[in-house]
Amino acid sequence: MIQGCFITLEGGEGTGKSTQAKAIADALEKNGTKVVLTREPGGTPGAETIRELLLTGAEEKWNIRTEALLFAAARAEHCAKLIRPALARGEWVVCDRFIDSSRAYQSVNGEISDAEIMDLHRIGSGNLMPHRTFVLDLPETDALRRAAARDRGESDRIGGRDRDYHRAVMANFRKFAADEPDRIRLIDASQSVEAVTASLVQNLDGLKP
Ligand code: TMP
Repeated sequence: MIQGCFITLEGGEGTGKSTQAKAIADALEKNGTKVVLTREPGGTPGAETIRELLLTGAEEKWNIRTEALLFAAARAEHCAKLIRPALARGEWVVCDRFIDSSRAYQSVNGEISDAEIMDLHRIGSGNLMPHRTFVLDLPETDALRRAAARDRGESDRIGGRDRDYHRAVMANFRKFAADEPDRIRLIDASQSVEAVTASLVQNLDGLKP
């Protein structure tokens, strides 16, 4: 039984998701809300092991379908062991990336469809969906600059894909936001960190306290 609220942050590389996930969690905790702050891929020991498998090594290490299955497997573990139990206790969960990342990234080259990715999510995680999702939107040049500063030339297996790939990922996120405006809000991430946090908190409207 789900009693808490499930919030996810999404977007391309270097858009400030991790900083903002922590800022939302802090803002909610200040109001006395119990919050679990987590991330994908990862969030439990088993899922963190899968993260390591996914993000290290050469591009050709995994076929795109294997990659999608591994993300779904990490998510299944995360949902079963951390997210669902927290929601059942009535806590809020703030998660840095979730199913929309699989939809945006793994579908880029067209070898696996959105419907197939959602099938994996149904099988692995019983179709658990966030109550609200924020897509942090940043102009490409700003995102590249921030990601380069963060990674210092050492981007991971997926972050290191070319510009066209990351442009397609961001286009997918924008399309999801247009298709599902109730759940998914597009947030201008080029504002100051504080202004972005304020805009996220404002966009928690309609969710139960
Ligand atoms: P991070 O840099 O936000 O920690 O995310 C790790 C990388 O994994 C990032 O390049 C996005 C990618 N990713 C996917 O391709 N599919 C997914 O389902 C998730 C959760 C992340």
